[in-house]
Amino acid sequence: MSEDKKTNWWKNAVIYQIYPKSFKDSNDDGIGDLNGIIQKLDYLKDLGIDAVWLSPVFKSPQDDNGYDISDYQDIDPIFGTLEDMEHLISEAKKRNIGIIMDLVLNHSSDEHYWFKEAKKSKDNPYHDYYVWRDGKEGELPNDMKACFGGSAWEWVPEIKQYYFHQFSVKQPDLNWENPKVREELYSMINWWMDKGVEGFRLDVIDQIAKEPDKKITNNGPRLHEFIRELSKETFQRKDIVTVGEAGGATINTAKMFSNPDGSELSMVFQFEHIVLDQQEGKEKWDIAPLPFIKLKEVLSRWQKELYKCGWNSLFWDNHDQPRIVSRWGDDKEYRVESAKMLAVLLHGMQGTPYIYQGEELGMTNVQYHIEDYRDIETLNMYKERKDKGYSEESIMESIYKRSRDNARTPMQWNNSANAGFTEGLPWIKVNPNYVKINAAEQINDPDSIFTCYKTMIQLRKKYNVFIDGRFELLLPDDTSFFAYTRETSNEKLYVICNFYGKDAVCNLDDNLEDMELLYGNYKGNKKTDMYKPYEARMYYVKK
Ligand code: GLC
Ligand code: CA
Repeated sequence: MSEDKKTNWWKNAVIYQIYPKSFKDSNDDGIGDLNGIIQKLDYLKDLGIDAVWLSPVFKSPQDDNGYDISDYQDIDPIFGTLEDMEHLISEAKKRNIGIIMDLVLNHSSDEHYWFKEAKKSKDNPYHDYYVWRDGKEGELPNDMKACFGGSAWEWVPEIKQYYFHQFSVKQPDLNWENPKVREELYSMINWWMDKGVEGFRLDVIDQIAKEPDKKITNNGPRLHEFIRELSKETFQRKDIVTVGEAGGATINTAKMFSNPDGSELSMVFQFEHIVLDQQEGKEKWDIAPLPFIKLKEVLSRWQKELYKCGWNSLFWDNHDQPRIVSRWGDDKEYRVESAKMLAVLLHGMQGTPYIYQGEELGMTNVQYHIEDYRDIETLNMYKERKDKGYSEESIMESIYKRSRDNARTPMQWNNSANAGFTEGLPWIKVNPNYVKINAAEQINDPDSIFTCYKTMIQLRKKYNVFIDGRFELLLPDDTSFFAYTRETSNEKLYVICNFYGKDAVCNLDDNLEDMELLYGNYKGNKKTDMYKPYEARMYYVKK
């Protein structure tokens, strides 16, 4: 256990992300809900996770699946009630599972009371809660684009002004320059903390200090000032975990965000490794092969640079990313082997691991007809690229590989209709491979992907080297192996992963003969330097 376990429990924790809409439906309206999550808490307990990050369940018109909040202090009826939420928090607590809520502080919904007031007139007390620029219809303040396509400016004829939105038109940006906005948000956060919430994930937090006139979106000049104030007024009151989504984070800013003095956040999600397989300077839809040597370089740099002066979050998947086994593993012949290899590779590193629902089962990407996609980003891109003359085939290829809906298909619980997710009509189609890939098949199988994840969690809790060990990359230029060590004064861990689907020989100088094999994803393959496709091993020695 880490030395500072008492104050930084999250350094020893493994966090599980739930996308509530797609996790478990308890009333058969086809939409996952809070009572559904309660029904599955024992499953999560069995897996061994310490906390659950819930994607937003607040009241919302669901333009962006809840990332457009119209009331931060209420639950959307599709998910349940405030009482259900309180029930979830207490049922989770009984099982030593903390609930982490997803705070969307950069923008609200256009249906939030604040925005409805704000657009009434320039003198309305809420007007200045948002970011406005004077103008003439058709003459945009500048050419900034929204992340989901189109201009970042939207005209409101009644008051002859444009408002700024970095995401959809239904997600107007909040004005953090206004101290009243900050105070409102802090009191809302404190209200949730008093309800027993044990942490927060902060949506696009590095975009709050935008300065549209200078075309600054993330890392605005006042960003760290705002975050320190936010942290002081809220999070620092209790020993909770906070993770900021920071697409623009660099090693240097991450050191500030996750400063061990606790002045900002516990950690951030950075994306340097997860955008490597796209064409540089282009959009996420413009796919490129994964530069493997670079992947090793990037992950190892983050491991080394944050050692003792920051903290990493570890993730392959989330609700915005395609499924990792389809992306960097092999979701056909070696699905099981490659999913386990990716689990071993990630969970051996220093940081707090995040498991995205279904990742522990090796759930895969899907290929649907365009009518079956639900994600606003995917649908906007489809329209935009059609207009630009891209071929249907190339657009669909990008969608198959990158659509956020790959991660949002219903959780595959068993092989009954709709994967046991709902007895109604699911809001998004179930991946047809649920008949084979599902939780019921895996929970009691010692060789399953689920059991591999469970084992990784147990190992992290048993050996301190997983938490505190210094990271060292091995074989940086090797084109088959991702291998590294973790080391403390009295323990050493070797993690050796054949990243590809071919047999390979691992040429390490170190002698692993006398070490304990903590984990291997192939049976009986202990001491040889021959590795099978996607073979992964963890060796351990007490010094
Ligand atoms: C974050 C969320 C994403 C959402 C966006 C806007 O990137 O992860 O799902 O669409 O912010 O809130
Ligand atoms: Ca439901």
